[in-house]
Amino acid sequence: MKKIEAIIKPFKLDEVKDALHEIGLQGLTVVEAKGFGRQKGHTELYRGAEYVVDFLPKVKIEVICTDDLVDRAVEAIQQAARTGRIGDGKIFISEIQEVIRIRTGERGEDAV
Ligand SMILES: Nc1ncnc2c1ncn2[C@@H]1O[C@H](COP(=O)(O)OP(=O)(O)OP(=O)(O)O)[C@@H](O)[C@H]1O
Ligand SMILES: [Mg+2]
Repeated sequence: MKKIEAIIKPFKLDEVKDALHEIGLQGLTVVEAKGFGRQKGHTELYRGAEYVVDFLPKVKIEVICTDDLVDRAVEAIQQAARTGRIGDGKIFISEIQEVIRIRTGERGEDAV
């Protein structure tokens, strides 16, 4: 199992959510975030105005999925979140050791 964390532009959230739903992913966590990348937030436009602060509003999506779905999920996020302009975001992938569904006590891939 893997955790996919994607930092995206907030207005892309619905498109990314729909794209992930389409490939069969059922769970998703969204966290409001602030951050900066290589441009340190300075030259990036947000809603038409240049942001003067270092931190730009972003959304972080967290999805835990089985290994067989990782490539499709990453592709879906990348396609849906991309505008081609700076600040489109990043995707981080890491290993997940265990998942437990609290209600039933199921573990592992059954619980994802
Ligand atoms: N190395 C990093 N570690 C943690 N978060 C990061 C990292 N790089 C980027 N982020 C997060 O992703 C957001 C978007 O980054 P961004 O897309 O601007 O990256 P970039 O490397 O500057 O690429 P680009 O040149 O396309 O803008 C940042 O605001 C920050 O929240
Ligand atoms: Mg950047």
